[in-house]
Amino acid sequence: MMNKKDKNFHIGIIMDGNGRWAEMRGLPRYEGHKRGVERVKEIVNVSVSYGIDVLSLYAFSLENWMRPHEEITVIMKLLEKTINGEFMNFIKEGIRFKVIGNRERLSPHILNAIESLERATENNNNLILQCALSYGGRDEIVRAARKIATLKIPSENITEETFSKLLDTANIADPDLIIRTSGELRISNFLTWQAAYSEFYFTETLWPDFTKEELFEAIQNYRTRDRRFGKVKRGIFA
Ligand code: IPE
Ligand code: IPE
Ligand code: MG
Repeated sequence: MMNKKDKNFHIGIIMDGNGRWAEMRGLPRYEGHKRGVERVKEIVNVSVSYGIDVLSLYAFSLENWMRPHEEITVIMKLLEKTINGEFMNFIKEGIRFKVIGNRERLSPHILNAIESLERATENNNNLILQCALSYGGRDEIVRAARKIATLKIPSENITEETFSKLLDTANIADPDLIIRTSGELRISNFLTWQAAYSEFYFTETLWPDFTKEELFEAIQNYRTRDRRFGKVKRGIFA
């Protein structure tokens, strides 16, 4: 599926619209989250077969901590269940699991589940699955700045490259394509630093309805983009 041109291909997805999916059906919001998890499983598996190198999924933002307690509890339970339930699949498929985000706010329960899956899959290299959980792009940048202060890094050594290495996404290439479902046209604090030159794909589809066919469509659309990175194409002066 992926060709040479797409070497080290990184897709980020802002999985939005679970609540609306449920509300449209007169169901409680958590039914949308449950259904959303099913889509996650399919998209992760298909990403392996499409030959995608890195998949970053926005599962829960720092701002999402401001939601009602009951909804947070349901989401956290679902996440923990999924992380534990996917253990064997990740080993079998050679998926490396990694969480980016502020771990201080996560309960010891879910932290344990995360850390054991991270440890068990750290040498896998079929697909890197970066799960943005309790994640905020600005918070990630501030935490990196704090590391600089703690490490007393001299100012002349602070470059974009060294700074990048202090982010949660250290050593992972920036996302090439960021997809957002549910028709919202914003990034909501997702990969704020890393998205500087990402291509965006917005769709009205709600996350619980997002299919592998639509992922394919997004990739096809991405391939028609002309990524200039601020430069000009070789013309008569070059
Ligand atoms: C995305 O769906 C999942 C999370 C943010 C955890 P939402 O819960 O934001 O669904 P909508 O946007 O209310 O429809
Ligand atoms: C962004 O969705 C976060 C996730 C998808 C996890 P939100 O639903 O929280 O974002 P806003 O509030 O519409 O910007
Ligand atoms: Mg939303």
